[in-house]
Amino acid sequence: MAHVVTERCIKCKYTDCIVSCPAMCFHEGANMLVIDPDECIDCRACLDKCPVQAIYPESEVPAKWLRYIRLNRDMAQQWPVITYPKPAMAESEDFRESREKWELFDETPGAGDPEP
Ligand code: F3S
Repeated sequence: MAHVVTERCIKCKYTDCIVSCPAMCFHEGANMLVIDPDECIDCRACLDKCPVQAIYPESEVPAKWLRYIRLNRDMAQQWPVITYPKPAMAESEDFRESREKWELFDETPGAGDPEP
């Protein structure tokens, strides 16, 4: 069972979760991260690091966000790996309390890690 990044991440992308991950399983999109379920080792280390509680164990994803299980798997195949934290999105505080952000989801890949 993997962990899943859900809707609260959209337009926030605080990236605090990344530093706790020993498996390099986060991938970056334009306005959110996802977890590769094939790489996640289910260690739970990231769960408490997200300031907006965007991450859930797959079995505990709220019913209204079940679509994010598939989305994490699909986008992890398309978006670059990110292993270093970055500044949150400029609008993160404005969207921190937003409840419905699905319409804002952006499939565009993020930058991922900088080139070595
Ligand atoms: Fe997103 Fe929370 Fe990580 S907002 S980038 S899941 S710290």
